[in-house]
Amino acid sequence: MEFEGKKLVVIGGASGMGLKVAEDVIGEGGSAVIVGRPGQKLDDAVATLSRSGSAWSIAADLADRNQVVEAHKQLSEDHPDATLLVNSAGFFKPKPFLDYEVADYDAYHDLNRATFFLTQTIVRGMVTGGQGGAIVNVGSMWAHQALAVTPSSAYSMAKAGLHALTHNLAIELASEGIRVNAVAPAVTRTPLFEKVFPADQLDGAMEQLGGLHPLGRVGTPQDVAAAIVFLLSSASSWTTGAIFNVDGGVMAGRN
Ligand SMILES: NC(=O)c1ccc[n+]([C@@H]2O[C@H](COP(=O)([O-])OP(=O)(O)OC[C@H]3O[C@@H](n4cnc5c(N)ncnc54)[C@H](OP(=O)(O)O)[C@@H]3O)[C@@H](O)[C@H]2O)c1
Repeated sequence: MEFEGKKLVVIGGASGMGLKVAEDVIGEGGSAVIVGRPGQKLDDAVATLSRSGSAWSIAADLADRNQVVEAHKQLSEDHPDATLLVNSAGFFKPKPFLDYEVADYDAYHDLNRATFFLTQTIVRGMVTGGQGGAIVNVGSMWAHQALAVTPSSAYSMAKAGLHALTHNLAIELASEGIRVNAVAPAVTRTPLFEKVFPADQLDGAMEQLGGLHPLGRVGTPQDVAAAIVFLLSSASSWTTGAIFNVDGGVMAGRN
């Protein structure tokens, strides 16, 4: 099995594409550590994963610097053997540029700060372990192009930073056998959009946004997870520093 004996950490893995990757890695013989906001959602996700294999939770609100310090401690003490990492924490709150307040901006960039230093902690374990590793950052189509219907200046700026981190780490860590790639999804129907649109408008919004994509629909968590799993796997052993568009064709052109 592809991930036999390998441990994955998913930052922001209690739902959506990150959780799907954890399921797939466990299904291929690996184990998973889910870092997520404290609460029932995290507990339920790890309980479900545990039915198929080994799974652990680390509860941390990544916007809370004290909780992030605790997460560092748990990752370095309990999981220095992780050789796979997916950085999936994120949220999406479209807002016109002129309406932004500092707190809106900080919320995106606090997540990048946590992602940056938690990645550092995990990479230290990978380097010490000497077995190499694979990291996939979940970037975004919005870092490449803006959509008028979803104004996202601070989100896009943060995701563009994650794409740049991908390039930098790919170069710095290549000699350690650690590959670093990113996916840049377009509109994907995950719990993220349940906080963007009211429940009674979600189906209609997804239908409408689906129409922008040349393949005629929005993505699913499976669509993006499949690409992430590929980038974690030995099948992509000569790929590093790639920003992989998983976007129904939208970066090639729009309907
Ligand atoms: N869905 C899309 O169309 C799309 C497109 C491009 C990029 N992305 C990116 O894909 C990644 C995964 O998102 P998804 O679509 O799979 O949605 P999702 O199910 O909402 O996953 C994002 C996860 O990040 C967690 N998270 C957010 N803020 C956090 C915090 N302060 N502390 C701890 N955990 C936090 C969320 O937990 P809570 O729910 O508890 O906050 C959630 O479990 C995100 O980085 C997103 O920006 C998504």
